[in-house]
Amino acid sequence: MSDTVKLTIDSVEVEVPRGTRVIDAAREVGIKIPTLCYLAGVHEAGVCRVCVVEQEGRLNLLASCMLAAADGMVIRTNTPRVQRARRTAVELMLSDHVQDCLSCERSADCELQDVARDFGVDGKRFGQQLGAARVIDRSSASLVRDSGKCILCRRCVTVCDQVQTVGTIGVQERGLDSVIAPAFTGLGDAVCVNCGQCAAVCPVNAIYEKDSIADVVAALLDPGKHVVVQTAPAIRAAIGETQGLAPGTLATGRMVTALRLLGFDAVFDTNFSADLTIMEEGTELLGRLQGALVDRDPAVALPMTTSCSPGWVKFLEHFFPAQIPNVSTAKSPQQMLGAVVKTFYAEQKGVAPEDIVMVSVMPCTAKKYEAGRPEMSDSGHADVDHVLTTRELGRLIRRYGIDFAALPDGAFDDPLGLGSGAADIFANSGGVSEAALRTVHELVTGRELPAENLHVRDLMDIHGIREIELTFSDCKPEYRWLEGVTARVAATSGLGHARRLMEQVAAGESPYHFIEVMACPGGCIGGGGQPRLTTDAVRRARFQAILAEDEGKELRKSHENPDIATIYAQFFGEPNSHRAHELLHTHYTAREKV
Ligand code: SF4
Ligand code: SF4
Ligand code: SF4
Ligand code: FES
Repeated sequence: MSDTVKLTIDSVEVEVPRGTRVIDAAREVGIKIPTLCYLAGVHEAGVCRVCVVEQEGRLNLLASCMLAAADGMVIRTNTPRVQRARRTAVELMLSDHVQDCLSCERSADCELQDVARDFGVDGKRFGQQLGAARVIDRSSASLVRDSGKCILCRRCVTVCDQVQTVGTIGVQERGLDSVIAPAFTGLGDAVCVNCGQCAAVCPVNAIYEKDSIADVVAALLDPGKHVVVQTAPAIRAAIGETQGLAPGTLATGRMVTALRLLGFDAVFDTNFSADLTIMEEGTELLGRLQGALVDRDPAVALPMTTSCSPGWVKFLEHFFPAQIPNVSTAKSPQQMLGAVVKTFYAEQKGVAPEDIVMVSVMPCTAKKYEAGRPEMSDSGHADVDHVLTTRELGRLIRRYGIDFAALPDGAFDDPLGLGSGAADIFANSGGVSEAALRTVHELVTGRELPAENLHVRDLMDIHGIREIELTFSDCKPEYRWLEGVTARVAATSGLGHARRLMEQVAAGESPYHFIEVMACPGGCIGGGGQPRLTTDAVRRARFQAILAEDEGKELRKSHENPDIATIYAQFFGEPNSHRAHELLHTHYTAREKV
């Protein structure tokens, strides 16, 4: 049997690999069939019916996203019957939809609005008759769910259940009363890890981040407040998309200038505290390895896992509470920078910490939840006061009339604005491990990590579980105990993969010493707060931009960041010191599974 099939679409013959869906085959002849539910490789359920086509010899219209291309098939994508059916499908959706496009946050970024406009549908034919009473659930720290906007495409259900294996939301009730929601409770009380992947795939404004723009604007307008901002590594590769630039456009300098125009008193880089994380987490890992290999201490928990993804941390607290000791105690870079700002920076600047407002811009909705965790205020003040997603910063920039594309490049402020290339790659899945290896290998052996251009190619990618082995040789005298030891490292993103790795750990069968987990597929570049729609092509473009940012720097290792050396000399003493533990480390809480 041939690996390909030949079919005819709108009078054009096309040959495609066997198994290709008609919707994808149509692209080969230049036809983009509209969709509202289909996400290739993720959600293939044939629910919305806006992708229907005619197949010669078949009576019914068929959903092209579910139809496998076959030899001899004759497809018509734009007959009057097809057009009528698609229009009716959209009109019925609009009839069960709160149609307030003018004031809706998704206006101009809404897949339903786009399709309705393309079809010339205005929503008047059937009027507005909501099947179930509208519920706006604001109980979550990170997300809002608005049933009045939901078109029941079920993308969120599939992503939460199949990709993240959390299963928070599902279809409740039947028929016209159907709603997408957690069973019996609000999102805030459900087992939800706040990853925002549901919001990232929602085609309309039915699940979205809890908006912190009003709080940030109020702080900026308050003359008594010193308002500082930090931006995560992944923002620089995605903020441009909110302003009409192509995915993968690096906009670091323009982003800094935009933040100054918004009125922030200082613009800091989360890259600084990503470097700090490597120092703290790397030291912790070496300590655990020594405890296990030299002291033979059975209480040492290995493998050690990363802790910088708050969606991952909450997932572990719910589903693998017995493995909490395996997680690094290091706070995430967001929280570390906040703690440094409210202590070291406040002291240096002579500003009372209670007068400082720390805002962070994150690719992540879970960071909103993380900032509000009660343990994230060891200095006596919340490390971080408000969290904006990339999407929210994009809205704020547009609201202030800032012509982003035309902005000149700005530079981050001292002393918390200098970050290494190792910090940039925190944005990519596998990047934290590579950053840690760049530092740990050099600390242990005195030599640079033996990897081409410092990249551990087998570790960083947007899919699957990757693993590498690294054998230490010619170690410095103080690390003789690591001579000949082979470290095993795994990196993954997406909680379904993380679940597989943690099941191994729970069974005592994990071969690894160090595991990196990022909750969102692809890592922070694919975060739940990033511009929509994050397809694999978009992930790859952002991923490459982050590599370019790293490779374009002279400073590419966390331990070589001179400002990191300064903060240890002037404030923390050394990595994992008492003060560092007090401000830069935390603890976790076992939570219920249901
Ligand atoms: S979700 Fe889209 S179609 Fe619905 S009100 Fe908002 S912009 Fe309009
Ligand atoms: S935030 Fe994540 S865990 Fe919570 S409902 Fe959405 S996809 Fe599921
Ligand atoms: S909340 Fe959004 S993604 Fe989920 S079913 Fe409704 S419209 Fe689809
Ligand atoms: S895109 Fe095919 S049924 Fe929704």
